[in-house]
Amino acid sequence: MTGLPRSVATIGAGNMAEAIIVGLLRAGMAPESLRASDPDPGRRQRMRELGVRATESNVEVAQASELVVLAVKPQQLEAAAATLPRDGGPIYLSIIAGATTATLRRLLGAKARVVRSMPNTPALVGAGITAVASDGGLEPADLERACAVLRAVGAVVLVPESALDAVTGLSGSGPAYVFAFIEALTEAGVHEGLPLATARALALETVHGAARLAIASGEDPAVLRERVSSPGGTTLAGLAALSVAGFREAVLAAVRAATERSKVLGRS
Ligand SMILES: NC(=O)c1ccc[n+]([C@@H]2O[C@H](COP(=O)([O-])OP(=O)(O)OC[C@H]3O[C@@H](n4cnc5c(N)ncnc54)[C@H](OP(=O)(O)O)[C@@H]3O)[C@@H](O)[C@H]2O)c1
Repeated sequence: MTGLPRSVATIGAGNMAEAIIVGLLRAGMAPESLRASDPDPGRRQRMRELGVRATESNVEVAQASELVVLAVKPQQLEAAAATLPRDGGPIYLSIIAGATTATLRRLLGAKARVVRSMPNTPALVGAGITAVASDGGLEPADLERACAVLRAVGAVVLVPESALDAVTGLSGSGPAYVFAFIEALTEAGVHEGLPLATARALALETVHGAARLAIASGEDPAVLRERVSSPGGTTLAGLAALSVAGFREAVLAAVRAATERSKVLGRS
């Protein structure tokens, strides 16, 4: 993978940090070029099992790395930032929900190189999508290094920072909407007489396969939908029932509610 920094550290070695470290190893980075810090000995041990140097000292890993991923919980950011080099230090890539570029600069220094991003949970299996704020004042080469790190766990899109609440409402919370859809499809299959395990396998593979087909074909999903909806057929009957039940409106309301919640949390 091109564009990767020479060395990467994570501050916090929890779920997301581990996903990124595993992704970077898979992308070909040498374990010796990766570091992680975490107060939890169990998390440090997990990092060592991956061949990565792990310590309690945030400053030690940050000083040794070209790019530092801030991967602590939002409420842990302030304490973690107080331990880190300010201004002329590494590139800081934040994945912390709600932490604005302005907040990061306040905590890490006005001249610190910071970039804010919003990944989602499928990053844990290398199938995430991360939106990166492209207007944070980072040099293009540094922004590219940050994007290369995130591409190790999935796709990357660039957006203005003001769009990150909508991103949170769509792809951040989106996996949960899809899980709810899978649950409902499974339940519906059971209602129609299928065994639970069969209904779940059918629901999971249908969602997985449909998403893969849409991505691989590059077609507008509306075109794909019309292609499988022959007049008088079963799919059209199902889609009509979805429409009557307000499916589209329900999805719009979900994304709107999550976006608004993200705005509120970002202000607190
Ligand atoms: N999970 C997602 O899908 C997702 C999506 C988008 C964004 N994010 C963001 O990713 C961040 C990490 O989430 P996560 O699920 O990976 O959390 P997590 O598993 O709780 O990992 C955070 C780790 O940081 C450690 N830590 C706490 N204070 C620290 C400090 N001062 N210095 C160094 N390490 C410290 C924690 O240790 P203790 O447990 O001992 O406190 C914990 O091991 C969050 O800010 C979240 O908003 C997550």
